[in-house]
Amino acid sequence: MNSIRRATLRAAALRLALNCLTLCLAFICFAALSFAPGSRAQSPQVPQIAATPPMGWNSWNHFARKIDDATVRAQADAMVASGMRDAGYIYINIDDTWEGDRDAQGFIHSNSKFPDMKALADYVHGKGLKLGIYSSPGAKTCAGYEGSLNHEDQDAQTYAAWGIDYLKYDLCSFRDVMKTAATPEAAHQMMADAYVKMRDALKKAGRPIVYSFCQYGLDAVWQWGPAAGANLWRTTGDISDHYARMETIGFSQAGLAKFAGPGHWNDPDMLEVGNGGMNTEEYKTHMSLWVILAAPLLAGNDLSTMTPETIALLTNREVIAVDQDPAGKQGDRVWAEGPMEIWSKPMADGSQAVGMFNRHSAPMTFSVDFAKLGFSGAVKVRDLWADKDLGAMSGAYRATVPGHGVILLRVWPR
Ligand code: GAL
Repeated sequence: MNSIRRATLRAAALRLALNCLTLCLAFICFAALSFAPGSRAQSPQVPQIAATPPMGWNSWNHFARKIDDATVRAQADAMVASGMRDAGYIYINIDDTWEGDRDAQGFIHSNSKFPDMKALADYVHGKGLKLGIYSSPGAKTCAGYEGSLNHEDQDAQTYAAWGIDYLKYDLCSFRDVMKTAATPEAAHQMMADAYVKMRDALKKAGRPIVYSFCQYGLDAVWQWGPAAGANLWRTTGDISDHYARMETIGFSQAGLAKFAGPGHWNDPDMLEVGNGGMNTEEYKTHMSLWVILAAPLLAGNDLSTMTPETIALLTNREVIAVDQDPAGKQGDRVWAEGPMEIWSKPMADGSQAVGMFNRHSAPMTFSVDFAKLGFSGAVKVRDLWADKDLGAMSGAYRATVPGHGVILLRVWPR
């Protein structure tokens, strides 16, 4: 009897000691994570970079090579005047073709289209906006201008000195370097190392700069991009201002949600809204899909000549709020039947943003089943583009969605 009691007591003591040990270890881990430099748990004075998907404008989709200092200033002016800045669009990003020659020391200079990059940054900052720039890990950019190969530290220092806040780093001619690798694995390693090299250079330069990978989704970048320093990474090739291309890119993002979160985002490429190649329903689909995907919202049109309709599409606060939700959860497809698809995005307040998409060119009628979205019981529903409360509902919502169009709902549990 006694020996049994002694054994039971010994076992209890052992369990207690183990529990204490586990608690201590948990406390040590928590403390280390909370106080380690660069940890996720940062003080409120140091906002996390790209805590929500970056919003702004980029020169490429509309202006391509025809971009210069005056045009960038005009875009910054229009960003403010149109109300886009106040709706959350902050970055003014210069894409390819700003690059000039390197000096005798190897430092890059802007070409004659951009006479004074520091002055331009000051101008943009003076409007409460931020300035972005573009380069490549290769010797040449995609448009054949000077890339950063072997000048990473110098370029990062130059960007920091100019006051640059965002870098899009485009693989381009680095693919030629990768061709020298003996195996696909070695080529992948070369590419990852090249991106890490610029990450480290930016870190050394000491200015917070959003780091955007552009290598078209090669080697499933979502799996290794965040560890290589990406705040966002392109998941596909280039978008164009056509429904078919936007549709192919947007709807192919299913399954990537788990890789996105605060500080690191999937990037299905910049917006085409307002460039004229799609109709209103198609642009609504473009915006709705991008916000459900928690995608970066980088307008790609000429902000200085926008119609009121384009401004309305780009600045709808409730639509933008879906993208910028602090929980930073990317949405995904939850149902599809032929060309009819339902995508939903969980929001921080327990609601969901729900897109009823019709990929057919003619109208289609279909239903959202709230139970299938995980709601038990009644829900409260709002149609975001229509700016209309649809009231309390239970069961399902049935609606006719225009061809190539969308109904974007926000659904709360009641
Ligand atoms: C492409 C890139 C585009 C644009 C262009 C500039 O590779 O995907 O978004 O940056 O290069 O040359």
